[in-house]
Amino acid sequence: MALRHFLTLLDVSKEELHALITRAIELKQQHKMGIVQTPLKNKVLGLVFEKSSTRTKVSFEVAMYQLGGSSVFLSPFESQLGRGEPVEDTARVLSGMVDCVTMRTFEHEKLERFARYSKVPVINALTDQCHPCQLLADMQTFIELKGSIAGKKVAWIGDGNNMCHSYLMAAHQLEFELHIATPKGYEPDPTIVHLARQSQHPIILSNEPKQAVMGANLVCTDVWASMGQEQEQLKREQAFQAFQVNSELMSLAAPGALFMHCLPAHRGEEVSVEVIEGEQSVVWQQAENRLHSQKALLEFLLSQPKATASK
Ligand code: CP
Ligand code: NVA
Repeated sequence: MALRHFLTLLDVSKEELHALITRAIELKQQHKMGIVQTPLKNKVLGLVFEKSSTRTKVSFEVAMYQLGGSSVFLSPFESQLGRGEPVEDTARVLSGMVDCVTMRTFEHEKLERFARYSKVPVINALTDQCHPCQLLADMQTFIELKGSIAGKKVAWIGDGNNMCHSYLMAAHQLEFELHIATPKGYEPDPTIVHLARQSQHPIILSNEPKQAVMGANLVCTDVWASMGQEQEQLKREQAFQAFQVNSELMSLAAPGALFMHCLPAHRGEEVSVEVIEGEQSVVWQQAENRLHSQKALLEFLLSQPKATASK
């Protein structure tokens, strides 16, 4: 049996994804009731992070602690990976000691290489290609507040980046309509768009934020310059001027539409203060749900029957 990883949302079946979200909601309720569960007693999660993080790092570490396990955090500054030790070697060494690894890095291919050489499940904590853990929390949040997302209209405004790619994969898995509005030249990867279009629900790409938001049940955005693109900030600020999610744009969405942002946010750039701090914004619930949804994910991956690594 092959080892299970979570490198993209497509590494789980539609049924498994629904079950993960249901379990996350259940774990959250139990946690709020003060019920302590320690199914991961003596289990250790390794966190290999080559980019900054607040939410992902804290939610994984707290999740492990609350489930009875613990975690070890490695940044490039304190590990040999940062001094050039090959990822294949790091994967074999680390996975001989810990029970699961979550990795945040630049090239998605590097994460795939790590997973190929790992003897334990590997979780994508964000790459330049996608951010599947964030989508678990986003989908949990929508379902908690509005019920099923199947058949709903979701608008993605801004950069065709890692978060946009994960929304494309989520649209495929959870069968919602996705309308993406980006400036010209900042469209999502055509391969991922093609893949998402295999589902029955429309995936519409345009350069028209108003058209994308019209009647949407959920409006999402993200920073204009992602980690690693800091030197493009000024150029991007100019290109993305017409893509700010503000009250005027939100007024075109369906009544009761939600606003989401994975955070960190740049107020006055991709989102106005009144939208992120307004009634339709669910960004704090989204952020909290990182904890609960990743608990469900860790429980799922660490309860799989023993499997063999590919290397
Ligand atoms: N949304 C998110 O992944 O946040 P961090 O970069 O703080 O982990
Ligand atoms: N697109 C952003 C997401 C941060 C959580 C980035 O990659 O920096």
